[in-house]
Amino acid sequence: MKIAIAADHGGFELKDSMVEYIKSLGNEVVDLGTNSADSVDYPDYAKKVCEEIQQENSDLGILICGTGIGMSLAANKFEGIRAACVSDVYSAKMSRNHNNANVLCIGARVIGDEVAKLIIKTFLENEFEAGRHQRRVDKIMAIEKENKGL
Ligand code: RB5
Repeated sequence: MKIAIAADHGGFELKDSMVEYIKSLGNEVVDLGTNSADSVDYPDYAKKVCEEIQQENSDLGILICGTGIGMSLAANKFEGIRAACVSDVYSAKMSRNHNNANVLCIGARVIGDEVAKLIIKTFLENEFEAGRHQRRVDKIMAIEKENKGL
């Protein structure tokens, strides 16, 4: 798979080590920054990854900030993006199986490297189960359409 990843200054160190890990799992990685501890605004980096997914250049996205919360709030404003802020492996699995999340958001100040690896591996290796979950995800996307332009 092709994975787009970005972080703000709160997440760039974790992002850098996850890039190598994601590659080691056999994926291609598009690293969209940031690449230093200089302060940046997380919505700018959420935008880079979400546009990559919207344009179908990448299959899934990963966003890292201090908590994962700001990145998920920003990412969920983009049409077609279902971003899940995740701190545990079970939620990582369910975000794919049940919610068809296409962007994973994690907090570098919340979880350590090893938990981040497990979460990312789980997110990348699980698929949407569709079935009864399809109807629910369709309803989420219908809400997005109904509120477009409001
Ligand atoms: C930056 O200090 C911090 O606010 C950001 O990384 C993130 O945690 C926001 O949700």
